[in-house]
Amino acid sequence: MRGLEAFPRSLALVERDGKVLSGCARSPYYPLVVRSGRGAVVIDADGNDYIDFSAGAASLNTGVCHPRVVEAITDQARSLLCYTIGYMYEEASVELGERLCAVTPGTFPKKVAYGLSGSDAVDGAVKFARAFTGRSEIIAFRTAYHGSSYGALSASAISLNMRRRLGPMVPGFHLFHYPICARCPFGRREDNCDLECLKDIEEAFGLYLPPEEVAAVLFEPIAGDAGLMVPPARYVRALADLCRREGILFVSDEVQQGFGRTGRWFAIEHFAVEPDIVVLGKAIASGMPLSALVMRSEIADALPDPGHIFTLAGGAVSCRAALATLDVIDEENLVETSERLGKVIQDRLKAMKEDLPLLGDCRGLGLTIGQEIVDGDGKPDRDACAKVCFRCWQGGLILTFLGDNVLRIQPPLVITDEEALRGLEILRLALEDYRAGSIGDEALRFARGWS
Ligand SMILES: Cc1ncc(COP(=O)(O)O)c(C=O)c1O
Repeated sequence: MRGLEAFPRSLALVERDGKVLSGCARSPYYPLVVRSGRGAVVIDADGNDYIDFSAGAASLNTGVCHPRVVEAITDQARSLLCYTIGYMYEEASVELGERLCAVTPGTFPKKVAYGLSGSDAVDGAVKFARAFTGRSEIIAFRTAYHGSSYGALSASAISLNMRRRLGPMVPGFHLFHYPICARCPFGRREDNCDLECLKDIEEAFGLYLPPEEVAAVLFEPIAGDAGLMVPPARYVRALADLCRREGILFVSDEVQQGFGRTGRWFAIEHFAVEPDIVVLGKAIASGMPLSALVMRSEIADALPDPGHIFTLAGGAVSCRAALATLDVIDEENLVETSERLGKVIQDRLKAMKEDLPLLGDCRGLGLTIGQEIVDGDGKPDRDACAKVCFRCWQGGLILTFLGDNVLRIQPPLVITDEEALRGLEILRLALEDYRAGSIGDEALRFARGWS
């Protein structure tokens, strides 16, 4: 375990950072200053190394600096960085469009629109849905996070700090309960659930929300920042059926769960639903700024230019990085790795729980795993979570948490079994230290976390 004296450069940089960068864009867990890395190993400013269980918030599915991605970027950079495709044409954006249409669910004709972040892509999905349907209203979910631009934020409900003093939001968004069965807002259990959360939407359709005025349902196929909650398949299918009956577009926000993260190329495939619009970001270009909407052609054709245009979107370097990302995921069988290794990690966590009762519910699909930390009464224990993550950092593991008490385990898909097990061992030692009361309150000074 490394004491704070092992991080002099890191701590100095954190101090400089605080003087010059707004704190609005960071929810820190510990003073990790990333300098470099390779695959699932990260090196900090003091030369300390870490196993990575975060993958840059699920944006580095191919790991840090995958050589093929780096090569594609440098090759492209030598001839052209970016020449706006807002006015001109360029090959990498077309080639990537073709690949994205082929890899996303549904065999119907599709087209792509590019952006620079998951947030702007979510805004785009709303624009396309409104333009195509001629309807204005959007259904989204409580506890969802779709991004930080005003449109995406209007569809999100996870943090008061994201809303406080920032209103008014974009009109037309209606937020319903996400099917989080462990905390069913209707007091149901699996054996007596009658999809009350879906009926809630249907009831709204009869009372105050005319369904013929609803353009789209914006859905996270796993509630990511709510704590990596997996919805029941029958709910997702019933929601898609409801959309079809009412002429509402089904939008799958795959920004966090896409590109093999869940053991499928896209998380919505677990539910056998073919979305009308797929929203992509984060891992699409292994860390280069790029987002994409992949949608039915007729939806893409409904929005005339310049209805959704960004000067640098679909830039050549980002598109080449994305093409290399697709190749790496495909050729290194990372979707299969994600499914297999995800089970290994979940089984190991469940075995650890026998000795460590502070490990609560564990769930997830593939390499997107949420592990709850609970107190003696089984209640969420945020301080324990913060301290455990802090101790993991000291022990050489990058691990973060969501909400009050969910450890967020989303390593790069290139992580080896040996690295994953080493990471879990660091976590086990941190949990034992917490149980022994040997993690001081200094951890809480650093950890704000994502809430
Ligand atoms: C599901 C989901 N959608 C959208 C976004 C926003 O993406 P970005 O931060 O790239 O704007 C995020 C970011 O965490 C996300 O998890």
